[in-house]
Amino acid sequence: MYRGATRGPSWASMRNADLRSRNVYENKQNNDKMSDEMSDIYVELTRILWRIADSETQFAVSGAFRARFVGKITPTIPRRVAHTLPSMYALNQSCNPGGGLSGCEGVSVDGAQTGKAMYAPPVSAPREEAIMETKTVGVVGAGQMGHGIAHVMLRAGHHVILLDTSQALIDAGAKRIIKGLARDVEKERLTEEQRQQAVTRLKTTTVAADLAVAEVIIEAVTEKFEVKAGVFRSLEPQCPPETIFASNTSSISITRLAAATGRPAKFIGLHFFNPVPVMKLVEVVPGLQTAPETVEKAIALATSAGKTPVRVNDFPGFVSNRVLMPMINEAVFCLMEGVADAAGIDNVMKLGMNHPMGPLELADLIGLDVCLDIMMVLYESFHDSKYRPCPLLEKMVAAGWLGCKTQRGFYTYPREQAESGRR
Ligand SMILES: NC(=O)c1ccc[n+]([C@@H]2O[C@H](COP(=O)([O-])OP(=O)(O)OC[C@H]3O[C@@H](n4cnc5c(N)ncnc54)[C@H](O)[C@@H]3O)[C@@H](O)[C@H]2O)c1
Repeated sequence: MYRGATRGPSWASMRNADLRSRNVYENKQNNDKMSDEMSDIYVELTRILWRIADSETQFAVSGAFRARFVGKITPTIPRRVAHTLPSMYALNQSCNPGGGLSGCEGVSVDGAQTGKAMYAPPVSAPREEAIMETKTVGVVGAGQMGHGIAHVMLRAGHHVILLDTSQALIDAGAKRIIKGLARDVEKERLTEEQRQQAVTRLKTTTVAADLAVAEVIIEAVTEKFEVKAGVFRSLEPQCPPETIFASNTSSISITRLAAATGRPAKFIGLHFFNPVPVMKLVEVVPGLQTAPETVEKAIALATSAGKTPVRVNDFPGFVSNRVLMPMINEAVFCLMEGVADAAGIDNVMKLGMNHPMGPLELADLIGLDVCLDIMMVLYESFHDSKYRPCPLLEKMVAAGWLGCKTQRGFYTYPREQAESGRR
């Protein structure tokens, strides 16, 4: 490996007998305009580093072109690549508790200065004041999404306080979390000891004041503006001003929700996907008023939970549901008009478009009430009839046929299948 000039304290001053992990990171700043060709060089360079790095080494990438870089590198090296330096810090905390960056050896790939790999102390690179070592995450709503978010936060080593409106709902959510953690042990994602520790880090409550100790509170309640705004209003007087409020909304304006709180700069959208323990994506959605530090902290939190955050601007439905929901809605129109039956529609999309699930199966997994709520947000926000919900979708929701969670939607589900959401 090459050694060269560094931007912070000298390499020698970084030596630490207690080194337990190494991080390889790219610290070129101002690289928005990085060409595809240049990112290929970086990928090649990282591959070389990977071949000579030890098995403990983690790779982190900072800078604006990181998504392209990580997209290219992850399929080629079988090791975890984090997207940002804050996330590297989070990774480091989880593999080296209490150690922090000062206990790490860093390798920087700095094309801007030398075109070579060189040692550099990672401690000089991240904006430490913006890095949050989240310890306690509050989750409001113990349903499909809330229990999944709580699960991945526990798995990442955070403490979780889960809140819902009744003890019965909380118990149902906690039961699913505990089952999910046991599955993590079976799949060797956690050791038995880690599972036991994760279970002890879970607390449940029906009282908003109990969330006051959380650094971040993620709301995952019903997709209605008034319900969500009510949750944040009840939390507001209980929480210190620095607490970050995040919403898992699928479609509601983050800017509007932020304005309903007394802390718009500390408000952000964190849109996880279903099933949360499996799906890699989190749409990170700043509102107009969201502070840059809030965005950084939200990205660090999502990354610490093993997710890939993608920053998206605040428009109804963001990217995911702006594209997905009209497709699902159109599939329901096809069913209503008799173009094909449910299995036929799903098979066309699976076999012809290579979708892993058909749109009607997916609607059942998401929840038909959630789909209808999202279509209504799109319809009312854009004032465009192309988003009008299909009458059959409205009728099924009125009947209480909400999909997997009620064991009946476009398909029927025995109880065990209903929990996994797969047919
Ligand atoms: N289901 C999906 O696939 C999916 C995917 C991404 C995002 N989302 C979004 O996540 C949110 C939750 O969706 P879900 O599918 O988990 O719904 P869900 O119906 O499964 O769960 C909602 C939970 O919120 C609780 N709740 C309602 N009002 C509350 C309040 N005032 N205080 C505390 N708890 C309250 C309910 O009791 C319920 O347990 C919605 O905003 C939805 O749009 C859903």
